[in-house]
Amino acid sequence: MDENARLLDRLSRQYFEEYPSAQAEFDRAEESLIDGGSHTLRLFGPAPFRIVGASGSRLTDSDGHEILDFWQGHYANVLGHNPPLITQVLAQRLGGGYGLHTGITESLQTDFAALLLKLIGAEKIRFTSSGALADMYSIMLARAFTGRPLIVKVGGGWQGAHPLALKGVSFRDGYDHSESAGLSPNEVESVLLTRYNDPEDLTGLFQTHGDRIACFIVEPWMGMGGFMPATPEYLRTARELTHKYGAVLIFDEIISGFRFCAGGVFKLYGVQPDISTYAKVIGGGMPLAAVAGREEIMRLCSPGSERRVKFDGGTFSAHPAALLAGNALVEYLAEHENDIYPRLGMLGEKMRRGVEEAFAREGIYVQCTGYGNEVVTDSSLGMIHFPVEEGIRLTCPDQVWNPAVCDVERREKVLKLAFLLEKVYVMHGLGVLSTEHTEDDLEWLFAACEGAARRIKT
Ligand SMILES: Cc1ncc(COP(=O)(O)O)c(C=O)c1O
Repeated sequence: MDENARLLDRLSRQYFEEYPSAQAEFDRAEESLIDGGSHTLRLFGPAPFRIVGASGSRLTDSDGHEILDFWQGHYANVLGHNPPLITQVLAQRLGGGYGLHTGITESLQTDFAALLLKLIGAEKIRFTSSGALADMYSIMLARAFTGRPLIVKVGGGWQGAHPLALKGVSFRDGYDHSESAGLSPNEVESVLLTRYNDPEDLTGLFQTHGDRIACFIVEPWMGMGGFMPATPEYLRTARELTHKYGAVLIFDEIISGFRFCAGGVFKLYGVQPDISTYAKVIGGGMPLAAVAGREEIMRLCSPGSERRVKFDGGTFSAHPAALLAGNALVEYLAEHENDIYPRLGMLGEKMRRGVEEAFAREGIYVQCTGYGNEVVTDSSLGMIHFPVEEGIRLTCPDQVWNPAVCDVERREKVLKLAFLLEKVYVMHGLGVLSTEHTEDDLEWLFAACEGAARRIKT
């Protein structure tokens, strides 16, 4: 049995002692749900605990624990779980007979669209209900606009579960593979992969395939691929190449949007995409997403357009309850931008440094990603990695998901269970801060790092 398997075995036994209802709940869930649920990330082994409440930085589970949470609604809950700002708006408006009537449009949608456009500096916007749909429509718009078939995406980038981007997400001796059965060979072949933060690789791709490339879709801040910022040079190169070859530049801001400032992180780089996609934070905890961009491209979703993109339908698109929540949140973020983001960034910095120091005190070398750079200064994100060698600088997904560079199993499985025994919930080795996380929460986290390190050592 290898070291991680041995640790998992021991930690799982301790976990079941600490979370006694997890196994029975899991068995019951499995009777009706494949693998006991509907989202793989939520179904961690050996059996996920069940939530009965969530407030601010904390979760309460069915075994009565209070757990410090860094997952924060898939990184969406920038004001923490169930913030009164949103719950009060929803309770009041739903109680007054407004919010569950999807199907007839309302002026709130116009107001919110105008607010978002002002903050993200785009010409037109259309709402949908998930990040995956937003990314899929953005790619369809790019293909229709350019009349070209090829999509360039980053190896290790997650652009949602839809047929146009299910290639090169997970690391398996590299990224050059399909992520799903059920796709046509065309869908897989039309996606070209490039290495994050590697302007030369991107230049080479455009030199070879430039006249057939419809778009380059990229996260200006890499999310699930490793929580690292794009270098300014990388985004500038992306902009220059897409201009030069007539392709559409799509920024996927589904994690980064409203996470670093009240708008897209592209503002900080000063690199303007043709289209950008938003979800997570902009919904205020509700399912809401948007595609925003240049009018001449966005206009292709209109039935009057000759090359019409069927960015349409969606019983729950621009759902009024989601608009209520999203609008209240975004208004608040815009109004308090100068307080919220610097404080989040300051706590983020303390979090990452404090975590590295806490593990070092116990003799374990970890490296956090999530640090900003010269343009992104206020980062509230962190991932803890176990590099196999000291001193490697982690700058792209090829490193943080490659078992030859980082001990991925230790981060994804062992650390998660070790932290849960310390009543801390993490995803991909840590997560994000909300405005509700405090300095005391960080002390809790640092003590948990020491505790987790001791559990890993013994
Ligand atoms: C960068 C990025 N793009 C797209 C998506 C897909 O969004 P959704 O889960 O709302 O479909 C995600 C989700 O995590 C994401 O992180």
